[in-house]
Amino acid sequence: MSIHVLLIGSGGREHALAWKIAQSPELGSFYAAPGNPGIGAHAEIVDLDIEDRAAVVAFATEKNIGLVVVGPEGPLVAGLADALAQAGILVFGPSAAAARLEGSKGFTKDLCTLKNIPTAVYGRFGEAEAAKAYIREQGAPIVVKADGLAAGKGVTVAMSLDEALGAVDACFAGEPGLGTEVVVEELLQGPEASLFCLCDGTRAVLFGTAEDHKRAFDGDEGPNTGGMGAYSPALALTPDLVETAMARIVRPTLDGMREAGSPFSGILYAGLMMTAEGPKLIEYNVRFGDPECQTLMMRLDGDLLPILLAVAKGDLSSAQPKWRDEAAVCVVMAAKGYPGSYAKGSEIGLPKETAPDAVVFQAGTRQDGARLLADGGRVLGVTALGTDVEQARSKAYELVRAVDWGQGFFRSDIAHRAVSKI
Ligand code: AMP
Ligand code: GLY
Repeated sequence: MSIHVLLIGSGGREHALAWKIAQSPELGSFYAAPGNPGIGAHAEIVDLDIEDRAAVVAFATEKNIGLVVVGPEGPLVAGLADALAQAGILVFGPSAAAARLEGSKGFTKDLCTLKNIPTAVYGRFGEAEAAKAYIREQGAPIVVKADGLAAGKGVTVAMSLDEALGAVDACFAGEPGLGTEVVVEELLQGPEASLFCLCDGTRAVLFGTAEDHKRAFDGDEGPNTGGMGAYSPALALTPDLVETAMARIVRPTLDGMREAGSPFSGILYAGLMMTAEGPKLIEYNVRFGDPECQTLMMRLDGDLLPILLAVAKGDLSSAQPKWRDEAAVCVVMAAKGYPGSYAKGSEIGLPKETAPDAVVFQAGTRQDGARLLADGGRVLGVTALGTDVEQARSKAYELVRAVDWGQGFFRSDIAHRAVSKI
């Protein structure tokens, strides 16, 4: 029986999910909101306000949707999965209570304490003076984090005391979304990598590893961004370290969430630091990483849809995702000026033909008649598979060079850590 699917989101991550879901022989009708032109090649874009939970439920009911796949964290933290579940609609993505793993850093840190999960030593503070006193006591370098969702802007890795104290003031300055608390924590050192696990409330199944490149410019310089490129599998996450992270970090987290009455279902994205003492948790996200997802979707062998359905139904017992032996690299092309201010509306010329194992995933794009225009900060995620990271990387950059977009920029050193080791 074919399954009608509604995909929520509009980024490169969602284009990669749409591309993979569209290959499923089990797929019936496929809708997406708000979508983008790349997603529109696979799914019918519907005019639906994804913040209006009742409207999403009404649409899913009317179209007899068998699975809603939620890409970004915002609607999850706001309770979209709860609203769909209450209406009896299967959803891939956690409840609002479980999404606190991303929505509240303080909540996650306390869970780590409760379950003895390795993470940075920390303090939680509801007002600035106490946070500053703790910072003065600990000294710099130190990390200051706003409690709530901050679209990647809530974390300051402070190298000096002044910078740390300033970050505390910024957190309490009342920017929307930052929350009313700060977490101050020890600086962890070591290579960083992302671990992805499918979770059905009880079980966790490994769903790949990747390494993101958060800084805007080559050599990991410049401001933090949502991610300028990724490769998979991550060099730093050896099979042994993956096993340790599953046993000491992911599984105790699932136990803790279940015991707290908010079992976690969906994809759990653990940001890890491989320290001298072993992997430690930096943070959780309750969704796929963007652009990490683009590399995972290229490497996944076989049908994604039954896997997402198994998660939504709460039974991962027979899910065994298979991976290609190849590595994948994604190079993000962003609008000049990103992550600061940038212009929209420049025209993009995409190559007419690409090899089957190289895909230009679209993020901030807009269709204007026959023209494709830039419409956001991160605009394209050029992704390729190769026999190893080095080959995947040369294929991705070859495709980047075939894109005609003068207003874009990209990093030329994505996957440098993995490639320089070869
Ligand atoms: P995000 O929360 O994704 O904006 O990213 C925060 C980034 O800050 C992480 O990817 C790390 O690189 C860095 N970071 C966060 N916490 C720590 C920590 N305790 N020690 C070192 N680096 C950190
Ligand atoms: N690429 C980082 C993130 O998705 O949070």
